[in-house]
Amino acid sequence: MSKRIAVLVSGNGSNLERLIELSRAGFIDGEISLVISSNEKAFALERAKRHSIPSRILHFNSRSCDAYSDVILQTIVDCEIDLIVLAGFLKILSGKIIERFRNRIINLHPSLIPSFCGKGMYGERLHRAVIESGVRITGATVHFVDGGTDTGPIILQEAVPVLCDDTVESLSGRVALVEHRLLPKAVSLFCKDRLTVRGKRVLITGGSYENSVVERL
Ligand code: GAR
Repeated sequence: MSKRIAVLVSGNGSNLERLIELSRAGFIDGEISLVISSNEKAFALERAKRHSIPSRILHFNSRSCDAYSDVILQTIVDCEIDLIVLAGFLKILSGKIIERFRNRIINLHPSLIPSFCGKGMYGERLHRAVIESGVRITGATVHFVDGGTDTGPIILQEAVPVLCDDTVESLSGRVALVEHRLLPKAVSLFCKDRLTVRGKRVLITGGSYENSVVERL
């Protein structure tokens, strides 16, 4: 049965746009049923509206992370959601939602975890830290969310070279192109029930990943 997906956002929403496009094209066996934003100014809300997808604005309002996550959990349960996707969502989920949705919350991160991740590592600051560190390779990671920050089982990763003349803009632009393929691939695999978590490892089951439709993205 087609999965009901909620996408949580805080900003631009280019990854949300990709997910909508690919689910409507039949590449993902699921429907983007709800968009939740922590920020009323997020352009992602405009994208949801243009595609007639219901959206909610849930402000953090200086609550604890647990209390904020409980509000999100209630909304998710009310909307009968199967999968939560964090696509540029800049708040930390904690408490009951982590257990209730274990291995059913997917996060996208613009680096090769476990490098350049954790609290406060996002946006321009992250890509600047990558450039200043002198590493030759960065990338993107899609992983399941556990009780830590960017510590859950890794589903997919892809490397992006850091070029000598890279700026934050050029590097983040190339990482974004990879993210726009990697996140839909992971969501597609989840919706086909092809992801099995064993400890920290995620097994891709049910046929060769390389030969499957997800490789064509
Ligand atoms: C993406 O690069 C995503 O990896 C990052 O926010 C961006 C959202 O872009 N998320 C994090 O850094 C989370 N730690 P978008 O709003 O255009 O989809």
